Amino acid sequence: MLPTFNCKDITLVIALFVTPLLAASHRERDTVDILDYVDPLIGTSNGGHVFAGASLPYGMAKAVADCNGDKEGGYASDGSNITGFSSMHDSGTGGSPSLGNFPLFAHPGCPSDQYNNCKYAKTERATPQVDGSVIARPGYFSINLTNGVQAEMTTTSHAALYKFSFPDNPDNMPLSPLIIVDLTDLPDTRSGGTVQVDATTGKLSGSATFSPSFGVGNYVLYFCAEFSGADIRNTGLFKNGAPFVSPKSGTNIADGAWTQFFAPHANNQILARVGVSFISEDKACQNAESELSTYHFAGTRTAAESAWRQKLGVVTLDATGVSDDFQKTFYSGLYRTMLSPQDYTGENPLWSSSEPYFDSFYCIWDSFRSAHPLLSIVDPQTQTLMIRSLIDIYRHEGKLPDCRMSLCKGFTQGGSNADVVIADAYMKGFTTDVDWVTAYAALLSDAEDEPADWSVEGRGDLGSWKNLHYVPIDDNDQAPSGGPHTRSISRTVEYAYNDFCISLVAAAFGNTDDAAKYRERAGYWENLFRDTQTSSLPSGVDTGFRGFLQPKYVSGEWASQDPTLCSPLNGPDQCYLNDNGHETYEGSAWLYTFFVPQDMAHLANRTGGRQTLASRLQYLHSSGLLYIGDEQAFLPVFQFHYLMRPGLSAATIHQYIPSQFHTGTDGIPGNDDSGAMGSFAVLSMMGIWPVSGQNVYLITPPFFPSVRIKNPQTGNEATINTINFDAAYKNIYIQSATLNGVPWTKSWIDHNFFMNGGVLTLTLGSVESDWGTNLEDLPPSMSSG
Ligand SMILES: *[C@@H]1O[C@H](CO)[C@@H](O)[C@H](O)[C@H]1NC(C)=O
Ligand SMILES: *[C@@H]1O[C@H](CO)[C@@H](O)[C@H](O)[C@H]1NC(C)=O
Ligand SMILES: *[C@@H]1O[C@H](CO)[C@@H](O)[C@H](O)[C@H]1NC(C)=O
Repeated sequence: MLPTFNCKDITLVIALFVTPLLAASHRERDTVDILDYVDPLIGTSNGGHVFAGASLPYGMAKAVADCNGDKEGGYASDGSNITGFSSMHDSGTGGSPSLGNFPLFAHPGCPSDQYNNCKYAKTERATPQVDGSVIARPGYFSINLTNGVQAEMTTTSHAALYKFSFPDNPDNMPLSPLIIVDLTDLPDTRSGGTVQVDATTGKLSGSATFSPSFGVGNYVLYFCAEFSGADIRNTGLFKNGAPFVSPKSGTNIADGAWTQFFAPHANNQILARVGVSFISEDKACQNAESELSTYHFAGTRTAAESAWRQKLGVVTLDATGVSDDFQKTFYSGLYRTMLSPQDYTGENPLWSSSEPYFDSFYCIWDSFRSAHPLLSIVDPQTQTLMIRSLIDIYRHEGKLPDCRMSLCKGFTQGGSNADVVIADAYMKGFTTDVDWVTAYAALLSDAEDEPADWSVEGRGDLGSWKNLHYVPIDDNDQAPSGGPHTRSISRTVEYAYNDFCISLVAAAFGNTDDAAKYRERAGYWENLFRDTQTSSLPSGVDTGFRGFLQPKYVSGEWASQDPTLCSPLNGPDQCYLNDNGHETYEGSAWLYTFFVPQDMAHLANRTGGRQTLASRLQYLHSSGLLYIGDEQAFLPVFQFHYLMRPGLSAATIHQYIPSQFHTGTDGIPGNDDSGAMGSFAVLSMMGIWPVSGQNVYLITPPFFPSVRIKNPQTGNEATINTINFDAAYKNIYIQSATLNGVPWTKSWIDHNFFMNGGVLTLTLGSVESDWGTNLEDLPPSMSSG
């Protein structure tokens, strides 16, 4: 759909992990497996592009069947044909399909029992799936193809284990399985390649060079595939769909390799273990050997399941009276937030470092708003490793990434939003083992030093930003650098918020000069606010609101962009990076006018006061101007909190959940973008919306009677309880609240709640109350404190 351009070593817990009882639940079942509430197929149709296969939390190896339909995440629930089974993927991407390197494909036999009658090329071997045969669970994926083969898969950190089950009598051919490894990737970007097959063991290994799916440069990946369960009959390579048996190795001579087997020793099954590595072929083989030494499928799957139970089990729901579907939406969203970024520690060939290395920050423009804040609550240790990894990328690449995948720089979409992720962690007290001095230097670099190519890092038009105090539509900044001079409005508001976040860190550092400087820059959004600007819908109806962001020339003269342009009302959205000349990115000026998270009080002042701005925000949500499937739409659901109407935030979230976030394969409204959509649903359903970059969570009633979050770092528990909860969601208005038994009148809390634990009790009712509406109880704004 909308092309939203947009482990540390996981210790395998081999012992069966016993799921904690959902103690407060009155369900009939007394043991519940939390994994039953995870459906990896949510978001595998309608452009969600979710990765549905087997992975560990943050795992590098991600195994799934690759299809020839909507294949961004490998598999899609679109009934298209299967071209292979590969071990590397990204989840929820908006650009082109990502990774999917070195797929295996399994034939039960070849016509007339001749290896040269089998199909080798991707387009020729594509085979329909057996309807309804897909089984997707955390750590496990299975599918049957109409050639009679069932392919099951599970993973460790850097290797995938495949179990192929063959039919007794494949289509009038003797059972003599032939397994291919293709040097291709999903988007067909391969150049070059080395491959070899060991005629004695049937082992296949090699490497090739590929391009990233939403960035620049290229990367080299290595693989090593070994087999168990049958004797070797023949081996060879293939090129342009034609197999040959000699030579058995070479560079740039083949598209892949194959091993043919005699009938399997037992159960018609052959196991294949595939190690992957960015370092070398040897390392790929070592990864498989060390993580899958015994080809033990059941044990590997159990270990993966245990790892997931441990990660997801930090949140316990009392879901009395609430539909199972809501729990599935919730836990599946939490699960998807932990698929990426991926832990490539020890797999980074670009520099040597003792710091962790995470990849697939895909993209921070999407993930800074909710995915990273959610990880800060449920997995602070890993979030800290990700922060350290971002800082190490700065150390060695000279800039923080805005988007990064497959060891390559990805495209920037607006500001330098890693600044927000770093500030968010600092303001929430994530100090352990983080080099904050270097982190601070990275923030200043984003704010001060324009890179040569700002389409992949940092910010462009910084000269104008510093001198004119906005990004002009006709930037003539003479800096010797390049990038697309579009999106002047959305870049202006993002730069302003990035600078606000830097000012928070500077103030916390005690650097008052920097704090004052960046605080001033945080107000530059206002330079593109045009008081007199009105807005009519494409239908001609005047919206009645006045004062919108508008583009401005270097000269200071106003330019013009219809405030509704780039909204869903203007038809198919064209406001992407490759577009010539639009001033807002993937959203309208109507939407971006609300992006002042640092100073909603002042925005209200400029737009007629809080009451008028609340009406305008309601209009945004009811007029068709907003598309909830793109991440900038998230915060405006909750901004009523700043406008003395926290009850409207609660009412508005029910407008989108479950209608747009549910358990169907079309259960998310846009690309998941590495769990962005998933984390939106989770945080909304928990009733704590993070204003990312600030130590602020806006409180709304949870979708469950009670939510308990155990901080895996401190062991402390934060519990949100409700009084008068009703599962029909009539009582969605907070009447009063207590924190640890003491009245809590603010409509927000800070991260201490999750760090130190506590009990927040919300008394609910069916009408809006005056809770959280006093001036001193509103969430913070720059101009009003
Ligand atoms: C899938 O394969 C079947 C049988 O070979 C073919 O008829 C169909 O057109 C293919 N579909 C796609 C999307 O390739
Ligand atoms: C898939 O294949 C396996 C192994 O042959 C078989 O047991 C299972 O019933 C098949 N599933 C479907 C839905 O056909
Ligand atoms: C904006 O703030 C000024 C100064 O505090 C105040 O006089 C004015 O009434 C405010 N306007 C609105 C619409 O709130």
